[in-house]
Amino acid sequence: MSGEVDLKQIDNIVKDKYEADPENLIHILQEINSNYNYLPEPAINRVAERLNIPLTQVYSVSTFYKSFSLEPRGKHLITVCLGTACHVRGGQRLLEKLERKLKIKAGKTTPDRKFTLETVSCLGCCALAPVMVVDEKYYGKVDSAKLKKVLDSYE
Ligand code: FES
Repeated sequence: MSGEVDLKQIDNIVKDKYEADPENLIHILQEINSNYNYLPEPAINRVAERLNIPLTQVYSVSTFYKSFSLEPRGKHLITVCLGTACHVRGGQRLLEKLERKLKIKAGKTTPDRKFTLETVSCLGCCALAPVMVVDEKYYGKVDSAKLKKVLDSYE
């Protein structure tokens, strides 16, 4: 994995953009996370080294914020709602269909890093159950035909 991380680029972010100031840790991690779609371990090590702060400090920030991921993530995040209303209206079946189509379990990322599949317990729009979200876009009353259409649009 370390071969994928350009340490020079990490140095540029830490030093040139954020003046190697530990106060900017969150911004630095945000930028790395958005470049790689996750926080690769070699990048985390480098940030700690360049900011001259303990590795544990970088990890505790990395795990505290939900927007950061320590695992590789897909280009698109698919979230399926499994809250009560969605569950009753087929949320679980929707999830199973997605797991079969993408050949991954919930919580995982496809090997080509195209999709990450996650679940959530309520998205606050129960009237549209079953609901799924791709990136920021909500899709309601998702049946098989709609699911196919949605997935095709991200291919
Ligand atoms: S239970 Fe799915 S949106 Fe509320």
